Amino acid sequence: MKVIAGNWKMNLTLNEALNLADSIKTSNKNEIIIFPPSIYALKIKELLKDKNIKVGIQNVFYEEFGAFTGEISVPMVKSCNLDYILVGHSERRKFFYETDDVINKKIKKALSSNLNVILCVGETLSERESKKHFEVVKRQVLRAVEGIDNFKNLKIAYEPVWAIGTGINAKPEDANEMHHFIKEIINLYVLYGGSVNENNAYSLLSQNYIDGLLIGNSSLKKASFNKIIDIAELF
Ligand code: PGA
Repeated sequence: MKVIAGNWKMNLTLNEALNLADSIKTSNKNEIIIFPPSIYALKIKELLKDKNIKVGIQNVFYEEFGAFTGEISVPMVKSCNLDYILVGHSERRKFFYETDDVINKKIKKALSSNLNVILCVGETLSERESKKHFEVVKRQVLRAVEGIDNFKNLKIAYEPVWAIGTGINAKPEDANEMHHFIKEIINLYVLYGGSVNENNAYSLLSQNYIDGLLIGNSSLKKASFNKIIDIAELF
């Protein structure tokens, strides 16, 4: 089974989001997940209730309830019957100062509540250029799962920061090498993310250790996302 996930980030109006959600193809063999802006998630979940498409949100807080203005908690996500959360996306690390420690707390809370999590990891360009990419990713993975022993609902997305939104995807062989490395640390599903589109999806998915794709820009275009879903059917 391949996992094809779309991360819509902070894009689309409500109507645009509903239209896009409604147009997404389903699969009998692969898992299709979308991460709309959280304010739309419940409505989209209702819209897709008879379709085999999972709906998640892009971030969650580790406390359950209380005076945390602007945050959404794991019990809230569960009570809306949402399926997934993304944790540790590089944009959250960069713009919202999420540390490995915060990410670890979020994952602990989500997994202990049986929520499915996709943990995002990946090195920056300067870290790759100085050949620290394996070390950085290893640290991010190990710190994220510290103190956790049940990984049943955890997946990882390897998203090199320099490939996100740049149009420059990692070479499939390089991504594969990193996925292999991650799986030797912890043997989970590992998705690749970073400038995935309908032209590179096949070669990425052909790699032994690439179990799926996490897609930003191309998930906002119905034709591209559906084409990638079709491509994943070939595996
Ligand atoms: P991109 O984003 O496909 O636009 O590069 C991927 C991501 O950030 O998950």
